[in-house]
Amino acid sequence: MPYRRKFLTRAGYTTLSALLTMGFLQKDKQREDQSTNSIAANNPIKNVNSPLRQLAAAKGKRYGTAIDGDFLRKEKDYADLIARECSIATPNGELKWAGTEPEPGKFTFESADAIANFCQKHNMTMHGHTLFWHLSKPDWVPYPPTLKMLERHVNGVMGHYRKSPVLKSWDIANEIIADTPDGTDNRYGLRRGVKPELIRDLFLIAAEVDRNKKFCLNDFGIEGATWKSDHYLKMVEYLKNNGVKLDWAGLQSHLWFSKNYPFDEKGFSSVLKRLKDLEVKPVITELDIIIDTPFPDSIEKLDKMIADSYKRFLELCFAGGVDTVITWGITDRHTWIRYPQWMPQKYKDNPEFQKFLRPLPFDENLKPKLARKAIAQAFQ
Ligand code: XIL
Repeated sequence: MPYRRKFLTRAGYTTLSALLTMGFLQKDKQREDQSTNSIAANNPIKNVNSPLRQLAAAKGKRYGTAIDGDFLRKEKDYADLIARECSIATPNGELKWAGTEPEPGKFTFESADAIANFCQKHNMTMHGHTLFWHLSKPDWVPYPPTLKMLERHVNGVMGHYRKSPVLKSWDIANEIIADTPDGTDNRYGLRRGVKPELIRDLFLIAAEVDRNKKFCLNDFGIEGATWKSDHYLKMVEYLKNNGVKLDWAGLQSHLWFSKNYPFDEKGFSSVLKRLKDLEVKPVITELDIIIDTPFPDSIEKLDKMIADSYKRFLELCFAGGVDTVITWGITDRHTWIRYPQWMPQKYKDNPEFQKFLRPLPFDENLKPKLARKAIAQAFQ
């Protein structure tokens, strides 16, 4: 276990580096506060129509979206909207393994850098997504990859952004918890074949390459008391107990509510509470909301239900220590959930249902929906 060993030899420096880090953190915070205050000073009158990034900043928070580089290049209205509303962005696919290391050891950053440049131009930070995911990897990479492959990949990708002025955080691992109990062969609920030690070593490698970023463990289906959230929390605890740098818990929050599956408010709050006890900051990394059966009899009613869900969800988030909210896209025009390979089966079977897939704050024509207002109000 080479990384384990390296970590142990570093343990002696922990106290010194903790003290140094505290000093840096304080300076960082001061800088954030100053920029937040100057935004507030420049915009004394803020209402729900003010840019979400300003409403968020006034409360020391951030709002952002996933960005698709192709649309960013081709659709000016989309780019302008993101620049107006967002203070943080996550590349949709440009930083995934298939995007950065399509062939062994051959790295390419053109499309991810284009998004980083956009972020820099508009004074936004960028969230790095992701170094490790079972989907969206090139065919030559097995799942799980070997430690050697991981080491080269993490060095190549994190190394490229070590000095980036915008990239401040990484989803070190994405969706490592199995979807159901039969998808795992270990007590942490990790996908079959993935050992907890491999994930630990991945984080330790990442810390060797660039420990100045926030490190995130990102997953979905953990926004309530479920088998999955239970195992996710166990894994967080395991990582923390094994000397891993873990700053953020990424709650993707692809939410799907219906009469039979209402929002588990109590369960969600208890997950946030557990994270607080584990000293890991919850971050909402991929929020979008679908409401289904029984469908209401009008789109207006549906939009209202979606907006109410945004509001309630975000209220609990903010009460539970969340300060960064990223939606997975900003307009229903591009939502991933309308693409056939990701669309839930019942919508594929019934194309007339597809008009009910309106999970994001802006509609197809980039007009603000009630969900946008709900996000604004929640920040306020
Ligand atoms: C999705 C993208 O939006 C799609 O365009 C792509 O084809 C597949 O991935 N969870 C994640 C994201 O962590 O990376 C996924 O993004 C959505 C689900």
